[in-house]
Amino acid sequence: NTVYVLNGPNLNLLGLREPEIYGRVTLDEIAGMLEDRALELGLAIDMRQTNHEGMLVDWLHEAQAEGARAVLLNAAAYTHTSIALLDAIKAITTPVIEVHLSDPKVREDFRHASYVGMAAAKTVEGHGPDSYRIALEAVASGEV
Ligand code: DQA
Repeated sequence: NTVYVLNGPNLNLLGLREPEIYGRVTLDEIAGMLEDRALELGLAIDMRQTNHEGMLVDWLHEAQAEGARAVLLNAAAYTHTSIALLDAIKAITTPVIEVHLSDPKVREDFRHASYVGMAAAKTVEGHGPDSYRIALEAVASGEV
């Protein structure tokens, strides 16, 4: 019943980085909030962050190999560039939910395309840290 929560580049700086866009909540605080919610929902989370594209690919493969219930993936900027992530999501049967704090669709044009979204079972974006919670609840409810 473990849900992998995978976070991509620059999200280690959450809380400090462009707070007017991403807010002041840190990734550790999001992890704590998600752990509490997961417990209530009868799930467990495995929260990780990397600045390296290939690491995200490896972790997606691992989610499948370990029988994870689902993956919440905030691939950050790789969302908009990575065919490798698109292929990895297609290569596994574990459902992947695309997550973003901000709403990339109302930001710069180069954020409008999402390779992750092309293969993800669902996308939750624009709700700040609550995007992660909403995605977790979609797993718990069986929607994903
Ligand atoms: C982000 C949106 C991406 O466009 C951006 O590159 C990020 C964060 C978000 O959570 O809002 O780094 O994924």
